[in-house]
Amino acid sequence: MLKNTGTNPLNITVMITSDMKAAINEQINAELWSAYLYLSMSLDAESKALKGVANWFYIQWLEEQDHARIFQKYMNSQGAKVVLFPIENVPNEWKSVMEMFNDTLKHEMEVTSMIAGLMNMAVADNDYATQNRLQWFIDEQVEEEEQARDILENFQSVRDPLHHHQLDREMAKRRYVRSAPLGLDGLTD
Ligand code: FEO
Repeated sequence: MLKNTGTNPLNITVMITSDMKAAINEQINAELWSAYLYLSMSLDAESKALKGVANWFYIQWLEEQDHARIFQKYMNSQGAKVVLFPIENVPNEWKSVMEMFNDTLKHEMEVTSMIAGLMNMAVADNDYATQNRLQWFIDEQVEEEEQARDILENFQSVRDPLHHHQLDREMAKRRYVRSAPLGLDGLTD
C-alpha cells in the first residue's frame, strides 16, 4: 500500500464500486433485451414484406448487441464478471410501422434515463473511468432517439401508401457499422 504523499489530499476513492458493477451488469442484460425487441420487430416487418423496415431493425439488433459488448468489455477491464439473466419476452406483433417506431422511441427514451442513472452513480462515486465509458452511451442515445423520432415523423407525415413504400425502400439502404468503441478488427477487440 502506498503512503498518502499529499498528491491526493481529498483521498478520493476512484475504484469502481460493487453497486456500479451490479448496475452495469443490469444494463448489459437490458441491452440484450433491446436487441431481442428489435429482432422481433425485424421479423414482424419481414413477415409483412416490409423489407426495408426489416433491414433497419435487423441492424438495430446488431447495434444493441454491440452496446452489450462494449459494457461487457468494460466490466472485464475492471475485473468484474458479467452474469447473464434470462431474456424476458418481447412483443411479437405490431399493428403498423408507426406503432413500431412509437415503441422504439419510447423504449430509447427509457434507455436514455437508465444511462443517465448510471452516470449519476458514477459521478457520485467519483468514478471517472466509468463516466468516460458512459459518455459514449450518452451521445449514442441522442442519436438513437433522433433517428426513431425522424422516421416516426416521416411515416406520420404521409398518408399515401405509395409513399410508405418509398420510405420502406429508403430503409433498405441502412448498413451496419460496428460501434466505434469496439474498434475495427476482430470480434473480441
Ligand atoms: Fe442500446 Fe438503443 O440503446
